[in-house]
Amino acid sequence: MNAGIITVSYIAASALFIMALGGLAHQESARRGNFYGMLGMGLALLVTIIGLVTQNHFVLIVGIVAGGAIGWYLAKKVEMTQMPELVAILHSLVGLAAVFVGWANALEHGAAMSSVEQAIHATETYLGILIGAMTFSGSVCAYLKLSAKISGKPLQLPGRHIFNLFLLLAAIGFCFEYVAAAPEGGIVWLVLMTLIALVFGVHMVVAIGGADMPVVVSMLNSYSGWAAAAMGFMLGNDLLIVVGALVGSSGAILSYIMCKAMNRKFLNVILGGFGNKSSGGAGAAGPAGSEADIKPIQADEVADMLAHAKEVMILPGYGMAVAQAQHTVYEISKKLKDKGVNVRFGIHPVAGRMPGHMNVLLAEAKVPYDIVYEMDEINADFPNVDVSIVIGANDIVNPAAQEVPDSPIAGMPVLEPWNGKTTIVLKRGMSTGYAGVDNPLFYKDNTRMLFGDAKDSVDAVLKHLSE
Ligand code: TAP
Repeated sequence: MNAGIITVSYIAASALFIMALGGLAHQESARRGNFYGMLGMGLALLVTIIGLVTQNHFVLIVGIVAGGAIGWYLAKKVEMTQMPELVAILHSLVGLAAVFVGWANALEHGAAMSSVEQAIHATETYLGILIGAMTFSGSVCAYLKLSAKISGKPLQLPGRHIFNLFLLLAAIGFCFEYVAAAPEGGIVWLVLMTLIALVFGVHMVVAIGGADMPVVVSMLNSYSGWAAAAMGFMLGNDLLIVVGALVGSSGAILSYIMCKAMNRKFLNVILGGFGNKSSGGAGAAGPAGSEADIKPIQADEVADMLAHAKEVMILPGYGMAVAQAQHTVYEISKKLKDKGVNVRFGIHPVAGRMPGHMNVLLAEAKVPYDIVYEMDEINADFPNVDVSIVIGANDIVNPAAQEVPDSPIAGMPVLEPWNGKTTIVLKRGMSTGYAGVDNPLFYKDNTRMLFGDAKDSVDAVLKHLSE
């Protein structure tokens, strides 16, 4: 294929990827954004296969069909609540691809180069394998943690910072050795660095506490982008460099936004400084109140309270996703609106298990965007709210973040329903949320607990509202 056609197609694909990112920034345009992304990827694959690949087409097609079929099956099968773990394991594949491409590059010397070119090429190969191996082992570990196949508790070895520093210095030192010895030798340094990067990826992720996992997922997303960009440099493929940089930088920006939403410093998260303090009071261990303070309520009473309220705030969390209660919740909000009640939804930036999790569920239930508010937009309004309904949420409405200075979630911004007149919490029992921290909200004077599966509870409330 003519080189000009390839270049123009690559520019078009890059533009489509940028339009995809722009579209994904808003719920209204997210579907369009996805479409642009698919179009860009289709174009990129087509031009690469027809225009660049000169041999082994059969192997390539078999690989694409097999990979595509597995991806299709996984995407169809996965539950919304399992999405973060699927994303984590897919990141690991990008990392693994970068390691394979790097090793293939190191073992196959290709055309002769000047010494400067050779040094640059060896550095690219070294960095590609380093980032790829870190991304691979870190993502596998994040997958195991998110799917509860290993404990979500942070594992913090004594002297872990010194250990990390040692790994970093060794990786830098081996890079000089490898670049000096490549292309004929230096493989031993590459093997050692690959092992170091694999160990570092695992060590970094196991040290991070439960509540920080959202930042880890977006950070690994960013790493997978840089791994792809490194592959682009190794293979001399401009599109891969552009796409890798887009993924890398958007993942980094997302990590920054998440850290800001959780009031954390990025370095603290990476070094495992949060989500892991032992604490008294409302900490991970003991309960935040006594059983006598828990005030259960029945569905008919909830329906009655809602029907007589003027301002209602609905605060969904992970439990709403598990119970798939979003459709009934919207039905309730419509019934209340018909009765003249002002109903709004309040969304915490890390509610659920992935960025935008609640927005996706509410959009799926066709909740209009103009009654869905971000935490910062509605937190000041709680004193005017008659009834807040917390549906399967826990950490995101935990006052310990403000009231208990040594709590593992201290300082994390949270929704503040306790400032309203009455809070009704829908959950099955008294278990903690993802961060493993007990919640003083459940014991407050103006809180009532509606126990049961969130779907059953909202069904019962809707039934009483309709009578
Ligand atoms: P959580 O704090 O995890 O609380 C969810 C609550 O839902 C649990 O306490 C559980 O209590 C209840 N629940 C579960 N299944 C239920 C069901 N079928 N019916 C009724 N209730 C049910 O959720 P959250 O408040 O949304 O906070 C999110 C947490 O996940 C944060 O700690 C956040 O850092 C973390 N996280 C977020 C992300 C992103 S990006 N959003 C990614 C990874 C981790 P019962 O068992 O008593 O019912």
